[in-house]
Amino acid sequence: MAVSARLLLLPGDGIGPEVIEETRRVLAWLGRHRGLDFRVEEDLIGGAAYERLGDPAPDATIAKALAADAVLFGAVGGPKWEKLAFDKKPERGLLRLRKDLELFANLRPALCFDALKDASTLKPEIVAGLDILIVRELTGGVYFGEPRGIETLGGGARRGVDTQVYTSGEIQRIARTAFELARLRGRRVASAEKSNVMHTGVLWREEVQMLHDAEFEDVALTHILADNCAMQLVRNPKQFDVIVTDNLFGDILSDEAAQLTGSIGMLPSASLGAKDTDGRRRALYEPIHGSAPDIAGRGIANPIACILSLAMCLRYSLGRAEDATLIERAVDRVLADGYRTADIMQDGMTKVGTSAMTDAVLEALEAA
Ligand code: IPM
Ligand code: MG
Repeated sequence: MAVSARLLLLPGDGIGPEVIEETRRVLAWLGRHRGLDFRVEEDLIGGAAYERLGDPAPDATIAKALAADAVLFGAVGGPKWEKLAFDKKPERGLLRLRKDLELFANLRPALCFDALKDASTLKPEIVAGLDILIVRELTGGVYFGEPRGIETLGGGARRGVDTQVYTSGEIQRIARTAFELARLRGRRVASAEKSNVMHTGVLWREEVQMLHDAEFEDVALTHILADNCAMQLVRNPKQFDVIVTDNLFGDILSDEAAQLTGSIGMLPSASLGAKDTDGRRRALYEPIHGSAPDIAGRGIANPIACILSLAMCLRYSLGRAEDATLIERAVDRVLADGYRTADIMQDGMTKVGTSAMTDAVLEALEAA
């Protein structure tokens, strides 16, 4: 049956446009071969939007994102815009999308592809078969808490303030997401906070435990201090199944977990809102690698994280798990066949650029 979906592509900055362009080719393939009828629009975000419109998060882009079934996001940011005020920085585009679309649940899988287990900086036996899901709270905490700012004190001194704040409702909804996802996987959740020093951490621990006891006793819950979690991730990462944590700790721990897999250019992510009455939820999908300005425009970026973000979109937004699996298998196949972009290059493998990697994925899809 034909599924019609409104997708908004937001290429953004750095390698964002390159990897989104490749993902368009996979979209076209799905349209031709899998009966998916995409209505695809594209718009400006981040530094690209700032250059054209003076605003990294234009209202028109946000309005289109609100109306779309899903947003496919490239990346934002770069050294060119580092000195701008916060409200003009490219990152503002991403933060406004998260806030305005209420994308409170950020799913960041850290998966070690078998063909890449030697690419990790950790020993292969520590990372082989690794499959962790980090569930990061994305619309609260210190990223948005008030008051925030830099104020001038007397005598030339200044004071910077950020506020870490969480309500019980915000904690419960992200914990619920984590428990529900754990039921589809290994049924284990580790909840990371700093309840030894932070009030928000104490509240976090209590709320997660209460929700668990009331509704999710079939899921094994452990609490872990975020610093210890960071250490355990490099000591013995396979002890984890799902990790649920706040916005800031999630930012840090998810980068750490991604690096474990040796393939930051490979990892997708999903940011999801609440389900509305007809079961629809707002959603944004993005590769986690960021804008990588150092390699932008050279045709060497790895498109796989973005292509796998499309797979997540098929699974979580479009109810097309089968098509998602097709893409994931095609990626496995391409890696097994030895194709490697520069970021994951290993001895004896075939080095390819951005579009040749996509060619290989499309060929594997054809062959499946
Ligand atoms: C991420 C990024 C963002 C964040 C930046 C680009 C604002 O690091 O998605 O992890 O800090 O959340
Ligand atoms: Mg980050």
